[in-house]
Amino acid sequence: MNAPVLLRTAHTRIRLPEPSDAPGLLRYRLENRAHLAPWEPLREESYYALEQCAQAIADGREAARLDRGYPLVVFAPDEEEILASLTLSNIVRGPFQACLLGYGVGIRRQGTGLMHEALEAGLAWAFGELGLHRVMANYLPRNERSARLLQRLGFEREGYARSYLRIAGRWEDHVLTARIRPDD
Ligand SMILES: CC(C)(COP(=O)(O)OP(=O)(O)OC[C@H]1O[C@@H](n2cnc3c(N)ncnc32)[C@H](O)[C@@H]1OP(=O)(O)O)[C@@H](O)C(=O)NCCC(=O)NCCS
Repeated sequence: MNAPVLLRTAHTRIRLPEPSDAPGLLRYRLENRAHLAPWEPLREESYYALEQCAQAIADGREAARLDRGYPLVVFAPDEEEILASLTLSNIVRGPFQACLLGYGVGIRRQGTGLMHEALEAGLAWAFGELGLHRVMANYLPRNERSARLLQRLGFEREGYARSYLRIAGRWEDHVLTARIRPDD
């Protein structure tokens, strides 16, 4: 990553977290543990420790430096509180120019449109500055909120993958969707 990322929307600032954001990331993980657990891989207890948050931030910054992934964090405009996360991962360049998208919003901001606002900005950045052509996002068939959100963002269903990801300790089917860069 050559230039620092900072996306501004009406209610957010979106960027890579810095080492000093580790305590805020830990607060976000702890506060949203029960809310996020059904939709994520099983987490070790160490996931909820400051050291692991600092390590995740360091790993994320290295991934961005190598253009492998951008685990962005959605902050409140004063950049004090973490509200949501937005991760572009598994970036493949060459003729594919694609990545996977993952996201989650803190329980207190769910149902407010904040995730949609942040993802619009993140996608514009992915298709613009990052030059990606295809962003893929996959969801559990029972994750109706995620399905609605992706539909509103213009993602199209591309398929259905059986036993696709291990979520909350079980292999789960996923609906596969993607959004292509406008005009490509
Ligand atoms: C999936 C998830 C990100 C969806 O978040 P969300 O808050 O529902 O998404 P949005 O930001 O688009 O908000 C949409 C809701 O806000 C409402 N809203 C209010 N103001 C709005 C605005 N200005 N713009 C859009 N929606 C707005 C909508 O009516 C909608 O409410 P509804 O779902 O009750 O109809 C969230 O449920 C989540 O974090 N879940 C746990 C993690 C997860 O599942 N991640 C995805 C794995 S695939």
